[in-house]
Amino acid sequence: MYRTLSSPQGGRIILDGKEVINMASNNYLGLANHPAVVAAAKDAIDKFGVATTASRNICGNYTVHDELEAKLAEFKGVEAVLVFNCGVSANSALIPVLVGKGDIIYSDELNHGSIIDGCRLSGAKITVYRHMDTAHLEELMEADKDIDCKKIIVTDTVFSMDGDLAPLPVLADLADKYGVELVVDDAHGDGVMGPGGRGTVDHFGLRDRIRYETGSLSKAFGSAGGFVAAPKEFIERFRPIARSFIFTASPMAPCLTAAAAKSTDIMMESDALWQKLWDNRNYFAEKLDKLGLNTGSSVTPVIPIIVGDAEKAQALSKMMYERGVYAQALQFPMVPRGTARLRTIISADHTKEDLDQVLAAVEECAKELGLI
Ligand SMILES: Cc1ncc(COP(=O)(O)O)c(C=O)c1O
Repeated sequence: MYRTLSSPQGGRIILDGKEVINMASNNYLGLANHPAVVAAAKDAIDKFGVATTASRNICGNYTVHDELEAKLAEFKGVEAVLVFNCGVSANSALIPVLVGKGDIIYSDELNHGSIIDGCRLSGAKITVYRHMDTAHLEELMEADKDIDCKKIIVTDTVFSMDGDLAPLPVLADLADKYGVELVVDDAHGDGVMGPGGRGTVDHFGLRDRIRYETGSLSKAFGSAGGFVAAPKEFIERFRPIARSFIFTASPMAPCLTAAAAKSTDIMMESDALWQKLWDNRNYFAEKLDKLGLNTGSSVTPVIPIIVGDAEKAQALSKMMYERGVYAQALQFPMVPRGTARLRTIISADHTKEDLDQVLAAVEECAKELGLI
């Protein structure tokens, strides 16, 4: 069932006509409705109109696109960035340029669907390793070590169903040991992980060891769009051949581009929102743990409440909604069978009062359902 929003994104939203605390969107830093971000988008509409009506390689490349790419490269501490209309497009473009038929991809079993699509489009052999199981990955890589072809390991950084974190240092070591490239999708890490939200690669201090990264602007940046961060020489080669870049006359609209650029400025100027996000996350996670709920292996602002049974997860979501809280129930095939859950996502836009109200509702509903 799709619910319908009639307010901006935020800690509280109007959903199906009712005000609820929003525990379901990826607006980690609350930037989607930040006054300066909204003003930047409005200003870009005044300057550039609403649409590009041409692909960026024809005549749809605006000054704001160039500015956003330069800002993102500075924020992430990378040589170059190429911006796409969404993160799905970034993954579908990058992976087939890195590998093709006859090559091998090692892919975490819980990778995001857009990574899987990018892998399939490449035509390379896809070897799936058990979720975050680096021993299993090494076994698979060892078995292939004499095969002479291009090989990559590809992984989400923060997994969006569990809020757990890929073991990038071990993956980087394995990549070095077997001479393969490590490619990461930091859609849920940018703005969230690392100092001031620089991302998961910085969180682990691996900036000089990971050359290819994809990202999304639809989450902490509060806009819509995606990007590939890579060495400058690669981006120059990639730009004329990235299929979802060259074949679309719908690149990031100028207003969304300007909004993402303003969000990047805000993140670079101060880490106040990032601090608030983590204060909120730690406060909420600690209280959930005290209630005795199963939050799996979450170490990020994505915190599942794992209930196991799909019907119970649905019931929990419905009961929470009746108490003024919206959190989505997830079940198979989105998560493995028997691990149905209510997924909560913390934002800097939540107040402590919001979180207390959510916790009180969780406690009441969980008791009623016999979960605690
Ligand atoms: C890990 C991951 N990668 C990529 C994407 C796609 O990003 P976008 O929403 O910008 O298309 C998502 C979004 O849901 C995601 O969770």
